Amino acid sequence: MKLEEMQRSNEDLSESAYLDQVIKECFRINPPVPLIPTRQANASFDFHGVQIKAGDKVLISPWVNHHSTKTWSQPEIFDPERFAPDRIQEIPKGAYIPFSLGPRDCIGKNYCLAVLKSFIAKLIVNYDITLNAGTKQTLTGPSLATSSMSMRISAKNNTVKHEHFKANRI
Ligand code: HEM
Repeated sequence: MKLEEMQRSNEDLSESAYLDQVIKECFRINPPVPLIPTRQANASFDFHGVQIKAGDKVLISPWVNHHSTKTWSQPEIFDPERFAPDRIQEIPKGAYIPFSLGPRDCIGKNYCLAVLKSFIAKLIVNYDITLNAGTKQTLTGPSLATSSMSMRISAKNNTVKHEHFKANRI
């Protein structure tokens, strides 16, 4: 499926498997929610030798899980192949949690992925994206908000029509 064609329908979105892998790897290397501070243990338990007591506040860090060398080989390397259909089953439960996990995980995750896929496809097809001179090319860090990336986004050959964005459904 060409990206140009991918803009057209919901069916196309579900076929854009490699773009899925790219987005998953972006969320692994730089999770938009790097720290989940909202959990409290409702019972005492032993977590890999650490004693958690009922009532303890527990911080969960997607960023730490996503960069653990226990799970990921060369975690600082951007590699969408980690999420290829024949490898995704190897990822242990809890190792990849950009939307948290369990009954209180993110209810917007599917919506968010569909919107992102559509947005990125339109961006790549219609715009040239370049890093500004002097920009340090950092893909990793605790938060995108503190990233030093600076880019220039310009319309390709003045071919972008504003009504194009208004007319297409996602
Ligand atoms: C990149 C986009 C997003 C990321 C990374 C994300 C991530 C998360 C995470 C990590 C949680 C769990 C927080 C916790 O355990 O305290 C969460 C919860 C939640 N998210 Fe998202 N989210 C995203 C987009 C969205 C969107 C688009 C919506 C709504 C349309 C949404 C609605 C919610 C709601 C309502 C909860 C609370 C669920 C509950 O407590 O049962 N999220 N999200």
